[in-house]
Amino acid sequence: MTQVFLYGGYKKPREATWMVGVVLLLVVLAFGLTGYLLPWDNRAYWGTVVSTQIMGSAPLLGSYLKRLLGSDGSVGVVTFARFYALHVLILPQAIISLIVFHIFLVRKHGVAPAPNESGPTKKFFPEQVMKDTIAVFTGFVILYTMAMFVEVPLGRLADPTDLTYVPRPDWYFLFLFQTLKFFKGSLEPVGSILLPNLAVLALFLAPFLDRGKLKKVTQRTTAIGVVTLAAISWGALTLAAIKTTPPSAEEQASTQQPALPQPSGVKQFSPQELAGLGYFRQEKCQACHNLDGGAPNTGPNLATASVHKNAAWMIKYFKNPNQVVPGSNMSPIQLSDANLNALAAFLLKLTPDNASDVASVPDNVVRGAQIYEAQGCGNCHMVNGVGAKLGPPLNGLSLRRDQQWVTKHFANPSAMSPGSIMPPTELPPVQMRELVDYLFSLPGS
Ligand code: HEC
Ligand code: HEC
Repeated sequence: MTQVFLYGGYKKPREATWMVGVVLLLVVLAFGLTGYLLPWDNRAYWGTVVSTQIMGSAPLLGSYLKRLLGSDGSVGVVTFARFYALHVLILPQAIISLIVFHIFLVRKHGVAPAPNESGPTKKFFPEQVMKDTIAVFTGFVILYTMAMFVEVPLGRLADPTDLTYVPRPDWYFLFLFQTLKFFKGSLEPVGSILLPNLAVLALFLAPFLDRGKLKKVTQRTTAIGVVTLAAISWGALTLAAIKTTPPSAEEQASTQQPALPQPSGVKQFSPQELAGLGYFRQEKCQACHNLDGGAPNTGPNLATASVHKNAAWMIKYFKNPNQVVPGSNMSPIQLSDANLNALAAFLLKLTPDNASDVASVPDNVVRGAQIYEAQGCGNCHMVNGVGAKLGPPLNGLSLRRDQQWVTKHFANPSAMSPGSIMPPTELPPVQMRELVDYLFSLPGS
């Protein structure tokens, strides 16, 4: 394209050839965009979240485009299916028809002759066809060899809950990404929609904007200027974007070995026990009670089996330590009966092996378990084998649902699962988030 542009090869009567060429470029970019999602790793997922959001912000067409791409609500299985269909069914057909049309036009109008060109005209067949075939074949061999021998590992499986992931588009879109940074807030559509569309429009209309007579390349100073400027801006923007790219989570993980193990506590404890763990933290019981074999503390080590009394004893004791153990140093614990129950259940489950979880399970997850308990979800659901079977067991929820679905489902279960008997759950956003965090941290069985 650059060559045709430099030579002014788009001029009359070859305007249509040029315009079909511009459409071909857009189709190639569409291949890149749709193909980007298909590896379904974190990079693919978050890249696509960003690009579909940009499309969604387009005036008038935005919400329609989002629906068409199956990405209103969130990027999920529907988006994947649509992108896949576009990538392997629709775009290939589009590109083949366009190439045929393009070649037809090239054959009809010929390639632009250099001004004052004399000498014999070159033949399309077999000379040009042979050259093209060799070029395409060489490209194919290079790609094939790279696919065989260059390792490009997948990232982590797409994780919609990973809010720390910094999405980046592929290198050829990086300049656009960098441009976006100049337009903050309400100006964003200028960078994301207006400028790119204007650029495409300008490309399209090039034959009509530049109507002068055919000149030698060396005399086409404006064209040379435009190409140079475009190349410099593209290069500079891409370079700036690469420089500000933080190392990906995967790269960080590989430099900070060994990776932290996933806290096992979420798997070991029932929701009630995990909620109890929360109260244990909240009431700062560790100020007096060791859980590991450190220096003896004021109170006994609660992780060792020998101190485990039954729950009824503990609850009575928590409410009034002095009455149960005369002269006790411990002050009464101000918690509801249900919460004291949870605390007792947690202490009964506590062993020297799982004591480290008291520190390692994230706070939001623990609070989520407390909300789960308070809402009585266990009356219908099972987690880690504890609970009832009126609803589906919730282990491995993150493997089958995304966050958006779950939140919508809470607001109105029967809208998402027709005929559901689950009552709607209303919670402030922060607590809703914690509940979902907890559910999504549950390992598959
Ligand atoms: C000010 C220090 C202190 C704090 C804080 C404290 N405890 Fe104690 N705890 C003790 C002492 C001392 C004992 C030994 C018996 C006694 O004096 O009552 C004890 C005993 C116990 C026992 C009985 C152990 C046994 O089998 O004899 C349990 C259970 C217990 N604590 C749980 C907790 C929990 C749960 C918390 C947090 C809500 C907590 N304690 C906070 C000092 C403390
Ligand atoms: C009265 C019983 C009942 C209660 C209480 C209940 N659920 Fe449900 N839940 C169900 C049933 C039945 C389903 C299956 C139908 C559906 O998807 O709505 C379900 C579905 C779900 C799902 C979707 C599971 C999946 O794999 O699709 C989630 C998540 C869920 N419940 C979480 C909760 C949470 C968290 C609570 C507590 C705030 C709760 N439920 C309270 C009965 C209940």
